[in-house]
Amino acid sequence: MMLDDPRAIERVDRHDTRRVLTEFPAHCRRAQALQPMPLPAAVRPRLVVVAGMGGSAAGGDLVAACASDTLDVPLLVHRGYGLPAAAGPESLVVALSYSGDTAEVLSAVEVALRRGIPVVAVTAGGALGALAQTHGFPRVTLPAGLMPRMALGYLAFPLLTVLAACGVPAASATDIEDALSVVQDQGEDLGPERPSEKNEAKRLALAIGTRLPVIYGGPLTGAVAYRWKTDLEENAKVLAIAGAVPEMNHNEIEVWGGPGAAGHHAVLLREDAEAVEIAGRFTLLREMLGPHAGGLSEVWARGRGRLARLLSLAALGQWVSYYVAMLQGTDPWPVPMLTEVKRRLATPSDEHRPRP
Ligand code: F6R
Repeated sequence: MMLDDPRAIERVDRHDTRRVLTEFPAHCRRAQALQPMPLPAAVRPRLVVVAGMGGSAAGGDLVAACASDTLDVPLLVHRGYGLPAAAGPESLVVALSYSGDTAEVLSAVEVALRRGIPVVAVTAGGALGALAQTHGFPRVTLPAGLMPRMALGYLAFPLLTVLAACGVPAASATDIEDALSVVQDQGEDLGPERPSEKNEAKRLALAIGTRLPVIYGGPLTGAVAYRWKTDLEENAKVLAIAGAVPEMNHNEIEVWGGPGAAGHHAVLLREDAEAVEIAGRFTLLREMLGPHAGGLSEVWARGRGRLARLLSLAALGQWVSYYVAMLQGTDPWPVPMLTEVKRRLATPSDEHRPRP
């Protein structure tokens, strides 16, 4: 069994991604202790815009999903250039970019500064770190050296700290402590040393095999379904689909009665605090998809609070994408296509190419 053979893993995982994923619980704990410097003004915003892309935006998605049930201030995760028109001086912009060099996030910060919107940066450095220094806005400084998508703990926890400092807490102290201990316990169950028969992530990767993974969450876990998709795409370099119940019942469900269904593997992201309406829809999905799908798996979030549930599912997804990569013989660390896009966009001749 390849996944239980340390030498086979070493041959494929040439950048030791397994060590970084194993450190995820420690990242979360260290990240929880980081503080913005200088402290942001304790003025409660009327709107929070989290500007981020890719792996950094994933931290924003987790926090937004946590906040959606409790926070009376809207929190938008903005993936793109500039800022939405609704963002004004009474808003708060949190610029989330691990590298600090992401063009869209830098553009959001420029617009925020022009509109007089308070900005807080969460970054390891780059041009965003330099902007914070020049303009004197608060910054949480992250340790460098990780792949942004593998720095999820460092992106999510400082965002929670910043929001709490600005009077818009998205998770309680109890929920945060619960999440830290849940990911700690879970970490021991999912690493490469744990054999397949006792390792949920390995078993799931083996079940998916070479089929197209289709991940469905519910109202809370839908945000993590998208994170599973992007982890599978960046780490294993396989296409994946993400959706959420109930919306997928109104459109995507049709695919499962179609000719391609046997080539797809559905993964349902469940949590035991689901509303009965949602639990009922998942039951129906199992009944209706089961006979057509190439495979169907169900995984359950751990912990009591929303943050623990989201993080435990995200951590499981990281490991599943890692083991799918191992099974394909793909090194999960490098992202050459993504890097090439960034390099070419930074070259003016490419940037201004006429449209075909
Ligand atoms: C790479 C990754 C990407 C980046 C994205 C934005 O590991 O996950 O999705 O997160 O290209 O870059 P950062 O996060 O540095 O702003």
